[in-house]
Amino acid sequence: MTPFEERVERRWSDGKTTWRSVDLGTVDSVPLGEGRAYTVNNLGIAVFRQRDGQLFATESTCPHRNGPLADGLVGDGKVICPLHAQKFDLTTGHCAGEDMAIRTYPVREVHGHIVVEIGPQTLA
Ligand code: FES
Repeated sequence: MTPFEERVERRWSDGKTTWRSVDLGTVDSVPLGEGRAYTVNNLGIAVFRQRDGQLFATESTCPHRNGPLADGLVGDGKVICPLHAQKFDLTTGHCAGEDMAIRTYPVREVHGHIVVEIGPQTLA
């Protein structure tokens, strides 16, 4: 097993939750300035890659009326839902001026791959 494979399959615990790292493929599969949707064990995840290369990961469905967030406009650390233009912060998940939020996930690039960290409570 290579060091990269060890990282991707790593599981760890903070005492309350066991986290899991998942490799979603190469960063090039998400064009700069866009998002893409993935499914991990029935969990929908949207990955966004800003024009500056920064990665973000959130749940893939808008809590308002299930809009496909990966199809939204991305920039300045935010995504605008393509259905009704609600704006979500990609770090905190908060929605500007509304009482709703999206779940966000830690994500990073490892040897050119997108690695997202998922707690088991979110897996079906
Ligand atoms: S479905 Fe996203 S803002 Fe309405």
